[in-house]
Amino acid sequence: MQDHKRPPASVLFIFGGSGDLNYRKLSPALYNLFLDDWMPEQFAIIGIGRSAYTNETYSAHLLDGISKFSRRKGEQNGHWDAFSQHLSFLQMDAENAEDYEAITEIVKTKEQEWGQHPNVIFYLAVAPQLVPSIAQKLGRLNLCSDTHSTRIVIEKPFGHDLKSAHELNALLTRMFSEEQIFRIDHYLGKETVQNILALRFANALFEPVWNRNFIEHIQITAAESVGLEGRGGYYEQSGALRDMVQNHILQLLCMVAMEAPVSFDANEIRNKKVDVLNAIRPISKDKVHESAVRGQYSSGWMKGERVVGYREEKGVNPGSNTDTYAAVKFYIDNWRWQGVPIYVRTGKFLHQKTTQISLQFRQAPHYAFPAESAETWRPNRLTISIQPEMDIRIRFQAKRPGQTMTLDPVEMVFNYDSAYGEHAPEAYETLLLDVMEGDATLFMRADQVEAAWKVIMPILETWEHRQPQDFPNYAPDSWGPNDADALIAQDGHSWINLPK
Ligand code: BG6
Repeated sequence: MQDHKRPPASVLFIFGGSGDLNYRKLSPALYNLFLDDWMPEQFAIIGIGRSAYTNETYSAHLLDGISKFSRRKGEQNGHWDAFSQHLSFLQMDAENAEDYEAITEIVKTKEQEWGQHPNVIFYLAVAPQLVPSIAQKLGRLNLCSDTHSTRIVIEKPFGHDLKSAHELNALLTRMFSEEQIFRIDHYLGKETVQNILALRFANALFEPVWNRNFIEHIQITAAESVGLEGRGGYYEQSGALRDMVQNHILQLLCMVAMEAPVSFDANEIRNKKVDVLNAIRPISKDKVHESAVRGQYSSGWMKGERVVGYREEKGVNPGSNTDTYAAVKFYIDNWRWQGVPIYVRTGKFLHQKTTQISLQFRQAPHYAFPAESAETWRPNRLTISIQPEMDIRIRFQAKRPGQTMTLDPVEMVFNYDSAYGEHAPEAYETLLLDVMEGDATLFMRADQVEAAWKVIMPILETWEHRQPQDFPNYAPDSWGPNDADALIAQDGHSWINLPK
């Protein structure tokens, strides 16, 4: 057993207990926490749904998901029986207020059994339209007035636009205090994302050059090689800008661009991040075409397999103008970043799955080497690969061995796997543990979510009112539409496609 403090006794209710998120992500994460001795000494996990599972069939269903999706899927570990003792299924209709009494009863039983009042966590892994009504019904339970130990976890999408996000926040805060509300952005739980803070603020080397005096531009890419994966109904209402930029990508941007926090207090970190969002230069609606590009994939070939175009996908309108690709150029109007363009892009069915952040440094102020030594000369670059590679690389010039002074760009690489040789926990493991511990640092505060919506609203509204003329405009297995190359080329740059 490892030497660390475990969270206090907890009862976790998972609404959407028979759904996909629980099957693929939450249960594997909880089981991994159990295997790593991070679950509380006393805990219960109750899946809630309308399906007719018994505790046994429910446990078998979750084990099936774990065998397919856990980071330990190939490992025989023999602890499932012990873990499944803590699992049960509550069949109930989340729309029926009377059914919620069963929740109070379960908590009372556990309280008596354990001799202490546990944390009570409600995880809403349900379709977004169900969130308000479930939250309202939960809010009527006495349990929820306990602001110290009762928490509610809300998955994205958090609202559909600024107005709906604001309304949802208002509704939630009528029943729960802000410290009880944990809004998930799973990118914040990724090891490599958390490491951005360590890289920036635990080293004296980087921070002095982390500004407009040294950095020429920044790129953030979150490319996916998968398509809709059967989520046509959801995606049709969303699109790439809402699905990825409003949340994951803007969060990455905040981590890269924020000022140094004074402490690691949850609100201090979140204050510094919200400052970044508030400093992003508003994009005026008549200039959206200069700062943002949208795309939609056609039919074609993806890694040797024939795939249908977005408009032929199940659940998608054949004339749909939903974006499956988005690229945006942002500026941050503050002392640190004035004038430094930040290019972000994301898309489905792109050539390679890769999430990475690159900071391109300015050119050396004077170049004393002979012209012929400089043919391959490149400016310095720092790249943080979030996934699937997990590394940090710095590009610099070196002299190629030999009798001539020829310079080559080379890389210094820190790689997680080779440095630590162990599996990093999945984002959901980190985030679920934080919820049980009541640490909100990696969760989105109400004002952050709204500030992020505010940033993208001009683009969303313009795209909604101006139909694209060229959809579909990129082929599967490509790097997106040509216009996205033009967006960055107009400033003399090109997209960085790493790893090779
Ligand atoms: C989700 C989006 O939030 O993030 C999905 O809804 C996307 O469309 C997913 O595929 C990407 O997450 P990850 O961790 O695979 O990069």
